Amino acid sequence: MDLLHLRTVLGHFATGVTVITTQDKNANPSGLTANAFTSLSLNPPLALICVDKKAQCYSCFDESKIFAINFLNEDQETISRRFATKGADKFAHIEWHRSQNGFALIDGAIGYIECKIVQSHDGGDHTIYIGEIVSATAAEGRPLLFFKGKYHRLPTNND
Ligand SMILES: Cc1cc2nc3c(=O)[nH]c(=O)nc-3n(C[C@H](O)[C@H](O)[C@H](O)COP(=O)(O)O)c2cc1C
Repeated sequence: MDLLHLRTVLGHFATGVTVITTQDKNANPSGLTANAFTSLSLNPPLALICVDKKAQCYSCFDESKIFAINFLNEDQETISRRFATKGADKFAHIEWHRSQNGFALIDGAIGYIECKIVQSHDGGDHTIYIGEIVSATAAEGRPLLFFKGKYHRLPTNND
């Protein structure tokens, strides 16, 4: 399999953009931009994410056993780019807050899903984390989209 070709084909699947936040053993926040998010089950409420084993924040998932999924709004491309950049001081120049449960959440996101990790599975060069959803919150706004390696927005006549 030609990996470049595979990447190009996979890029034809349009997605939203999330930042997944977690934390290290000292409760310092960390996270990464991700579109490998799926709502897995409603009853029980479960969500699934896939995290690259080479991500700098990778060990934080095992250390904290928690993650939050932040659905980015259409004006948050800069945040997406920062959280997709290795070595960036990701939380330094953005507005964020702690939820009542202590999860790091990014201000302005249009949805938040807070999860406790209940299962992890090997997925090649990624690990699949399944989280029990402990809180879910929606907010007003329009989504940031990703298609063919570029950021997009919904047309304005489409709510
Ligand atoms: C739109 C987009 C979607 C991404 N989706 C994922 C993903 O689902 N899982 C993943 O591990 N990395 C994903 N990445 C790559 C990570 O954001 C990037 O490698 C990040 O720097 C890894 O975090 P680190 O800085 O802790 O190493 C995505 C990047 C972009 C731009």
